Amino acid sequence: MIEYRDVSVVRGGNAILDRVSLRIEKGEHVAFLGRSGAGKTTALKVINGLVGPSAGEILVDGAPMARHELPRLRRRIGYVMQQPALFPHRTVFDNVATVPRLLEWPEEKTRAEAERLLAQLELPLATFGARFPRMLSGGQQQRVAIARALIAAPEIVLCDEPFSALDPIIRAEMQSLFDGVVRASGAPPPTGAPEARTTRTTLVFVTHDVREALRIAGRVIVFDAGRVVVDTPADAFMSHQHPLVRRFVEA
Ligand SMILES: Nc1ncnc2c1ncn2[C@@H]1O[C@H](COP(=O)(O)OP(=O)(O)OP(=O)(O)O)[C@@H](O)[C@H]1O
Ligand SMILES: [Mg+2]
Repeated sequence: MIEYRDVSVVRGGNAILDRVSLRIEKGEHVAFLGRSGAGKTTALKVINGLVGPSAGEILVDGAPMARHELPRLRRRIGYVMQQPALFPHRTVFDNVATVPRLLEWPEEKTRAEAERLLAQLELPLATFGARFPRMLSGGQQQRVAIARALIAAPEIVLCDEPFSALDPIIRAEMQSLFDGVVRASGAPPPTGAPEARTTRTTLVFVTHDVREALRIAGRVIVFDAGRVVVDTPADAFMSHQHPLVRRFVEA
C-alpha cells in the first residue's frame, strides 16, 4: 500500500530522511517510533505529498506520487496532524464534514456518521457540533481532528501522536476506542491477510510511547536521525537488542 524506495529528504544540507526503504502492506498497522527530531513526522508527510523527497521515490497503492492526483489521493488518506489543525472558522460539525462534502455525500449521511463517530469520541454532536475550535480544550480539538480524519473510512490513516494532548484516562479509552474505529472503517480486507492485527485500514501511527506503539501496531519501525534502524514485529520489540530499543524499553 505504501512503499518508500530509498527516500531522502534533505533540508539545509541535513538529511531529515536518509535513504529510507520500507514496504507497508495493505491493512497493516505500523508504529513509527523514535526520539524527537528523528524524522517521524517527515516520514508521514511524504506519504500524502506534503513533503517531496529530495531523492528516491514513494509509491502509494503501487503508483509513484507523480502518477497520483494529490487532492484525490488525500481524500483516501485520513491524516491526524501532530498539532490539531482544525479550520478555525468552521464549527465542529463542519470540520468533521469536510471530506464527506468533498465526496458529495448526502447531508443526512454526513450528519449520521458525524454523530456516531463524535459520540464514540465522547463529543456528543448536540453539545459540541455548533462550537468553533477556539471553544474547545486542546484534547477536545484533537478528538475532532481524529473524527475529521476517520469519518469517510479512508483506506490509509496517518496519525502523528494523536493522543499526546489527552489526559491519561481518556488517552487509554481513546486507544481502545481507536482500535474499534479503525477496524470499522476502510476498504474490505485483503483475502488471506496473515497478521492477527491486520484490518481493513492501513494505519501508520507515530508515537514516542512504547506501550502505545505495542498496543496499536503489529509492527514497529524505529527511526533515528532520519534512518530506519529497527523494523520488527511488535511481539519481538521488547526483547530486541538494538541499543535504541533498549533505551526506549528502559525509559
Ligand atoms: N522544513 C524544514 N527545514 C529544515 N529542517 C527541518 C524541516 N522540517 C523538519 N526539519 C528538521 O528535521 C528533523 C526531523 O523533523 P520531524 O518533524 O520529522 O521529527 P519528528 O521525529 O517528528 O520529531 P518529534 O517527535 O519532535 O515530533 C528535525 O531535526 C527538524 O528540525
Ligand atoms: Mg513529529
